[in-house]
Amino acid sequence: MNMRTHQLRCIGTGARISPDQAPSDFRDPETRELYEIEYPWSETAETNGEPRNLPNGAALRHLWAERRDSTLAIDQSGVWRYRELLPILQDDTHAVTLREGNTPLYDLPRCADNLGLDFLLAKHQGMNPTGSFKDTGMTAALSVAAERGFQWVACASTGNTSAAMAAYAARAGLRSIVFIPEGKIAWGKLSQSLDYGALTIQLKTDFDGCVRILAELVKRHPIYLLNSVNPYRLEGQKTPAIEMVEQLDWQIPDHVIVPGGNLANGSALGKGFGEMKHLGLIDRVPKISVIQAQGANPLFQWFTNDHAELDPVVADTRATAIRIGNPASWRKAARIIEQTNGWCEQVSESEIALAKAQIGAEGIGCEPASAVTLAGLKKLVKMGHVQKGERAVLLLTGHTLKDPEYTIDFHRGELAQDLPEAANYRRPPLTLEADPDVVLRTLDAEIKKAQTV
Ligand code: F0G
Repeated sequence: MNMRTHQLRCIGTGARISPDQAPSDFRDPETRELYEIEYPWSETAETNGEPRNLPNGAALRHLWAERRDSTLAIDQSGVWRYRELLPILQDDTHAVTLREGNTPLYDLPRCADNLGLDFLLAKHQGMNPTGSFKDTGMTAALSVAAERGFQWVACASTGNTSAAMAAYAARAGLRSIVFIPEGKIAWGKLSQSLDYGALTIQLKTDFDGCVRILAELVKRHPIYLLNSVNPYRLEGQKTPAIEMVEQLDWQIPDHVIVPGGNLANGSALGKGFGEMKHLGLIDRVPKISVIQAQGANPLFQWFTNDHAELDPVVADTRATAIRIGNPASWRKAARIIEQTNGWCEQVSESEIALAKAQIGAEGIGCEPASAVTLAGLKKLVKMGHVQKGERAVLLLTGHTLKDPEYTIDFHRGELAQDLPEAANYRRPPLTLEADPDVVLRTLDAEIKKAQTV
């Protein structure tokens, strides 16, 4: 069997289809379930008694490390560097790349201290070319669209997917259409899709309404759908799992904590860890926990109730990236939480705002949706799910400059007013007369104040 061959496997029925049979909405026409990409070497693949022919883990490690010195674009990409685990293109030179991935793994010593943990790490996916984790998935799925000759691509988005899609489409010379909920996305993100030349349509509905309109559209026109129901997105989004353990010198964290919106990312990382274990690159997988905003918490409700079907909610949160009430990939997220023994939590608006300020105070910063990870971790520690000596990694999904309005509102005292601790992090801007005496007097007072805290 050609190692490049892959199939789409329905996560509900296990039925397999070839890539050219993929429905335009990436759902099984009967069960409406999603697909995942399966390779001949995947754990789920049927071998008909033949040897599975696994890629050699030790050789891969060596090859991936060697590529760091290469000047080739696909080697410099922190996604395509691992291309042996995502053989989704006929020809890898077709990859559309902005040198995504390669994101830092920071330590958060003050946050760790506050939590009583020995250490805490943050994998900052906001340090990608368009400022969010979406780039890792977009390079993969958009490359597939380009290789298959699509002229138009589209997505519904809370802002980051659209920014990433617009950028990668522009690089590939494809046209892109973005559907966003009017007035419900951060300015930084809206400006990006305009900057990269997308046809940007603001619909008078929420994200879930945008998804419904787009689903109709792709049935009627040859437009390639780039929402995270597209399983190629997840192939790219699994690579930060590899990069993370590489950065940890192949040690495995105990916990990985991700924000939950449309609920694709946790399962993408889970797939990455699972495949590494299957290939013998690591010997266990971390627990993957998903944190939702209280106002957009359908998975949390599923988790705390009877674990049956998911009931959609009408979503509302100022963490607009995850303002999603009917998440497409909930089954995938639920499966990965169960398989890895992870957890699902919800956090309040104030808890998100405080956590975001605490990450900012480490000199790192992130967008509000990313900060749910730290807010959620506080709860996991309190409940004993994460323990003192364990190593947790927060997935910071978006850059702080995506939503500066939120940050300014926090520092002006408009967020987290009910949490006294938030006052310690507020640094509202001071406006003074341009007079050195006035400035010095104010500075003196500020220094005194700082010394008493
Ligand atoms: N964090 C950020 C910054 C996001 O933009 C998103 C999703 C998530 C977390 C949640 O990830 O959907 O895989 O659970 N943003 C999508 C978008 C929905 O359109 O940009 P998820």
